[in-house]
Formats: sequence, C-alpha cells, structure tokens
Amino acid sequence: MSTSQASPSQTAQEKASASTAQPEQLVLVIDFGAQYAQLIARRVRELRVYSEIVSHKITAAEIAAKKPTALILSGGPKSVNAEGAPSLDPAIFDLGIPTLGICYGAQLLAQQLPGGVVGRDDSGEYGRSEMSRIEGTHSTLLPDHIPDEQTVWMSHFDAITTAPDGFVATATSAGSPVAVFENHETKVFGVQYHPEVGHTPHGQAVLQQFLHNEAGCAGDWTMGSIIEASVEAIQEQIGDGRAICALSGGVDSAVAAAMVHRAIGDRLTCIYVDTGLMRLNESDQIVETFERNQGIKLIHVSAGERYFEKLAGVTEPETKRKIIGEQFIRIFEEFARSLDDEEFLVQGTLYPDVIESGTGDAAKIKSHHNVGGLPDDLKFDLVEPLRNLFKDEVRKVGSELGLPDEIVLRQPFPGPGLGVRIIGEVTPDKVEVLQLADAIVRQEIAAAGLEQELWQAFAVLPDIRTVGVMGDERTYAYPIIIRAVTSDDAMTADWARLPYDLLERLSNRIINEVDGVNRVAYDITSKPPGTIEWE
Ligand code: XMP
Repeated sequence: MSTSQASPSQTAQEKASASTAQPEQLVLVIDFGAQYAQLIARRVRELRVYSEIVSHKITAAEIAAKKPTALILSGGPKSVNAEGAPSLDPAIFDLGIPTLGICYGAQLLAQQLPGGVVGRDDSGEYGRSEMSRIEGTHSTLLPDHIPDEQTVWMSHFDAITTAPDGFVATATSAGSPVAVFENHETKVFGVQYHPEVGHTPHGQAVLQQFLHNEAGCAGDWTMGSIIEASVEAIQEQIGDGRAICALSGGVDSAVAAAMVHRAIGDRLTCIYVDTGLMRLNESDQIVETFERNQGIKLIHVSAGERYFEKLAGVTEPETKRKIIGEQFIRIFEEFARSLDDEEFLVQGTLYPDVIESGTGDAAKIKSHHNVGGLPDDLKFDLVEPLRNLFKDEVRKVGSELGLPDEIVLRQPFPGPGLGVRIIGEVTPDKVEVLQLADAIVRQEIAAAGLEQELWQAFAVLPDIRTVGVMGDERTYAYPIIIRAVTSDDAMTADWARLPYDLLERLSNRIINEVDGVNRVAYDITSKPPGTIEWE
C-alpha cells in the first residue's frame, strides 16, 4: 500500500469521484431545502436519465462546467419573498439550459425573471387539488393524453399571480392562479404542484415530457451502461495498481467488490472477517459466492475466538459495540499491512451517504467512519464506484454483475452482527442458540413471501430464562424474541402485523428445534420509541 499523502490539490472526494462514471447526459436537481429533492432525482433516474443533486448556492460557472442537459429547481420550505430566502445566481438563466421549476423552484423563476409576480394567497393550498388547463392556451409540457382536469399534489402558501414576460400560463387551480407556465422558446417551465410525488397521478408523464421531449434527454441510462462506464472509470483510476476491499456480506460492499473485480480482475483482494457473530452458514455463503462463483481473491479471517475472548464478561451494549468495531479495524489493519502493494481501498459508499451531510466533504466523513481507526501510516486512495447510486440501483447493478439474490436482495444486517442481538454477555453457546432461531425466522418469513415486504425480520436472545413445561418436565430456559419491522429508511419503523398462523409456526419450530429455548415472544414496539435492534 502507499504510504504517501494524497496530493494536496486533490481532495479525498475528488479522488473517490475519479472512479465514478460520468454519464454523457446529466440533469442537475438544484436543491432549495426540499423534502423531495432526493425523490425528484429518483424520478429522473427512473426515466433513464442520470441526475445529481446540487446546492442552490451553485454558480453559473460551476453549472456550465458540468454541462447539464437540463436543470430542475426543487421545492423548498421558505417563502421566496422572505428575507434571506435562497435564490439562484441570475447568470444561470443566461446559460440557455432547459429548466423546470417545481413549487418553490417555479416561484423563484417567477420572482427572478422579469415580469413575474409571486403574491401571498390567503390560505395556501395543501394536499390534493384539482388543476385545469387554461382554455385557449397551448401546453407543450402537459402531454395531450393528460385530461384537461387532473388531480395534483400542492404544498404552498405563496402563489404565482403573473407569469414572467415571454411565458404563457397554461393551467390553474383554486389556490394557484398560475399553476403551470411555459416558455416554448427558452424551454423554461414552472409547475406549482409536485409532479414527483405519487399523489400526482400524471406527474411522471410530465417529467418525462420535460426531459425526453423538451430538454432532449435520450433516456438511455441503463444498469448496463452504468457498469460499462464505471468499469472504465475504475480502470483509469487504479491503472495497473492493486486494491483491497473489506467484504461484510452486505449488499454495498459486495456490489462494489464485484464491480472493481470486473475492472481489475485479480488485482483486487477482498478481506472477509468472520467475527463469529454472523448468521447461520453466512460465512460459507460469502466464501462460496465471492471466491468460488465470482473468482475473487478472498482472505477469509476466522476471528471468532478472538472476538469471544475480548467480549467475555462484557454486558454493556456500547462497550460491546466498541470492542467489536475495534477488533475489526485491528484485524483489517493486520492483513492490510501484509499486502504491501495495495494502494487503493474499495468502499461501498452510496449516493445518500454522499448527499446526506449536504456538504462537499461528505465522502471524507464516510471514509473516516469506515476506516477511521486505521493508523496514520496506512494511507489508501479511495475507490467508491457506487457513489452516484441509490440502494435499489445498487441492487440492480449487483444482479447485472451476476451476484445471487441472497446477496443483492438481503435485508440489512448490522456491522456488530448477532453481538447486538444477544443481550448481556456474548458467548459461543448463546450465538449458536440465536443462529438456529434466527435461521428459522428467516426461512419462515421467506416461505411466507414476506422477505421483501419487511425491512428486517430476525430473532433476539435476551439475558433471562423463564419457567416452562415440556412433556412432564419443568424447563428453565431462554425465551426468543422475534422482531419484524417495516420501514423505508430505518429512521422510523413500525412492527409488522405478521399473520397469527405464521407466528404460531415460528413459535412451534423455534421451541421444538432449538435446544435451550422454551418460549417465544413477539416485539410490538415501533421506532420511536424503540430502536430496530435491541442494543
Ligand atoms: P436501530 O437499531 O438504530 O437500527 O433502529 C437502524 C438500522 O441500522 C442497522 N444498524 C447497524 N448497521 N452497523 C450497521 O452497519 C451498526 O452498528 C448498526 N446498528 C444498527 C439496523 O440493523 C437497522 O437496519
């Protein structure tokens, strides 16, 4: 590995971006603090056009350098007339780039372009609203197949009362005198409603019309083209160098490794640390998938004993987490040191990780998070081939790269593994009990066809024993707690309403098949107030 510092003129983010493919056509979603900026970016990608989110502070020169095919201005929480409300560098309007303003973005167009007026409505307009085409006007943004009256989702207090000079107002609603306005010459459009949300049934058709027909986006961005372009970018970044990757068994590191392997073959070495806290047969599956099927060079470190030694007698959850994390770093470091020529570290950083902090140095924060405990003399350049992708896109890329469904469709599994699902001291015996119970939960959930509907479903082993009776014998054994939740992003979660007959099967099988368990309970706590994991 290299012991040299990154060149001072190139930030960690720029270095990581070097391995990220730049598609030919790009749509920039300019974010004014919208809840929906990510959703807009997703919708654009669903139309097979590559999109990125950028801050409204971006300058005209920065936009020009990126050569976008179109701009979309997002909504935002403020009033455009409020003091200090975010605005756009006016020179952006002179770049001649087709633009669609949504909600706040539309109001900003009306406010910043000559002749437009944004007034304050008495009541605002929130939720479903009926919008009508304005008779006698011609819209190129609203496709002909959309009815003259349509339901749209509104969320605004201010309203555009006059469209800017050169624009024609083409639709109106109760709270929006100008709900849609269009300039057919400059290809600049504004919509007061939110076409990106599911509550606007014809929303995606309008985005499609704007992107494909008005802005000239080809709509040819596919998973295959992502892989092809990423492989080229990785080859360029790594040259004839070598890379390592810590495989966790999760989707992100798996897909990142498969992509880099496609680019540089056996100059990639993966390190898989088996902490002894993995699920039943998980380590075998990882070795099978990566080493045997994908032909990736894999260092399989069986470190269970070392983990159990360090965890002996430890019951406090945060201390357990710290020990598990620290051991991982030390083991990774030991193996990384033995690989002298490796200069690149592959990480499965995703697009939401990059944009979440809203700052330009998000990549650094993430990489520090993952390799933060590595000593200073271990310096790697980062390779982050998934930096521009959302999770579901990563899953599709993984499938295209030939990874099996068990890897690409798997539910999230925490880094500290079963260590945070065994309450109290972690011992090999307890891990065995939990592995067996957990395998039954996963099998039955899969058999019921619920795996993809649930965010996670797993078993927890608490630090208590309860009295029971089996046959004519008194038992004094562990209970198993089943946890199954639905969620979109793990920030909030609801307990899953599993069918009673499924719960009954789980209870019967766990008690009959797992020695040392005599009771099964179901956790009916949402998040908040609970967390998904028990520790
Ligand atoms: P909580 O328990 O905080 O979990 O509601 C939210 C989501 O994060 C996962 N999780 C982790 N993932 N390292 C990880 O990679 C961790 O230390 C960790 N802790 C929790 C958890 O499984 C759930 O999906």
